[in-house]
Amino acid sequence: MKNSVTTLLIDLNESTCGIIAGMLEEIEEITVECETGSFDKAYRQIRDIRPDIILLHLYPSLEEALVFARKISTLEPDIALIILSQDQNAQTVINAMRAGAQEYLRLPVLKEELQNAIHQTIVKCRQKKGKGTDGKIISFFGAKGGVGTTTLTVNAGISLAHYGNKKVVLLDLNLQFGQLALFLNLKKSCPLNEVLPYLDNLNPDMLTKPLDVPGEGVALIANPAPLEAAENVTPAQVEQLLILLKEVYDYILVDTGPVIDDVTLRALDMSDHIILVSGLEIPVVYNTRRCLALFDKIGYSRDKVKLVVNRHSSYDDFEFGPLDKVYDYEVHSCIPNHDRKSMCDTLYKGVPLSRLEPRAKFSQNILKMITSFNGSIDFDMKKSKKVRYSKPLVNN
Ligand SMILES: Nc1ncnc2c1ncn2[C@@H]1O[C@H](COP(=O)(O)OP(=O)(O)OP(=O)(O)O)[C@@H](O)[C@H]1O
Ligand SMILES: [Mg+2]
Repeated sequence: MKNSVTTLLIDLNESTCGIIAGMLEEIEEITVECETGSFDKAYRQIRDIRPDIILLHLYPSLEEALVFARKISTLEPDIALIILSQDQNAQTVINAMRAGAQEYLRLPVLKEELQNAIHQTIVKCRQKKGKGTDGKIISFFGAKGGVGTTTLTVNAGISLAHYGNKKVVLLDLNLQFGQLALFLNLKKSCPLNEVLPYLDNLNPDMLTKPLDVPGEGVALIANPAPLEAAENVTPAQVEQLLILLKEVYDYILVDTGPVIDDVTLRALDMSDHIILVSGLEIPVVYNTRRCLALFDKIGYSRDKVKLVVNRHSSYDDFEFGPLDKVYDYEVHSCIPNHDRKSMCDTLYKGVPLSRLEPRAKFSQNILKMITSFNGSIDFDMKKSKKVRYSKPLVNN
């Protein structure tokens, strides 16, 4: 959608119209038009300017304004409708919702309340008006550092893109110590701090080519460079970026740091799935159980949170017994512990194991993990095994 959101304020009461318009003008993302004449004139204006959002004051007659609201939502279903009214009656709220309103704001309204409602509506509009793509956000969260979160993010992303033919972007939200660019051996990547200042003006083209990882079929937004830029990233910026990425990509794979802060939480909230990466060492199991308890408290469903045990070996089953009992939670997948030398090789070459050794048990289990919660991906394992090599980043 265009980045400036056209908003039409229909208020036949000139004095409230002036107040509300004043508040709206402070919101940078929107342009505001007002109509104070009549509902007929307002409808002509709607046809003329094709607003994204309409704010309608139920004034002077509640009934007449509600009929008009119904007319808008029936004839112009793509326009988001926010209703404003002095009426405190619960039935009026119900009637407004039935007439097609997405939000109901009681007058007088606080500036923050109005701006919040507009912000939420813009988010919904952007999602609806995307290019038909409504990408899935999958966040990888490790209950402890070093459990393999980045390894699983990279390999899942490469598999989805390379064998599943999906448009994939990897987003490094391990803000201080993210290593996605290192894992892909990229000397040049686009770091988050270079994307965020342009959020309001980004278009899909800017979110594709400049982010491409050559030869891998995925895009990457690396963690901020330099390290201290990490502290300037806000949850609201991350939310806005994720919404934009959903318009362009089939999958947004987020690698998070092993810390639950505001930025991580916002990404987890917005995720379709969270891959909670664990391992069978006691400190990791301990942290994993605490995370599962927190996610439950927050209200994340068991379908949303998938528990994945990384670096699994058949000996673990023998030692620990049924893994579901270890965590008191269903284990979604186990990713085997792969040979250390070839794992090092993947890091050295910057080519994920799923590309280097697609038939390895590790790579096959990564595929199973993705397929099992996305169902319909048709993986083409015959795809070219040609991989690019370049001088390892660590040697530069
Ligand atoms: N299934 C596996 N088999 C063998 N080695 C693995 C496996 N998963 C991860 N590793 C290795 O474990 C090390 C840590 O992995 P990785 O960097 O992905 O962990 P992380 O959880 O992202 O760490 P951090 O908390 O530092 O971000 C790496 O050397 C990686 O190659
Ligand atoms: Mg990592």
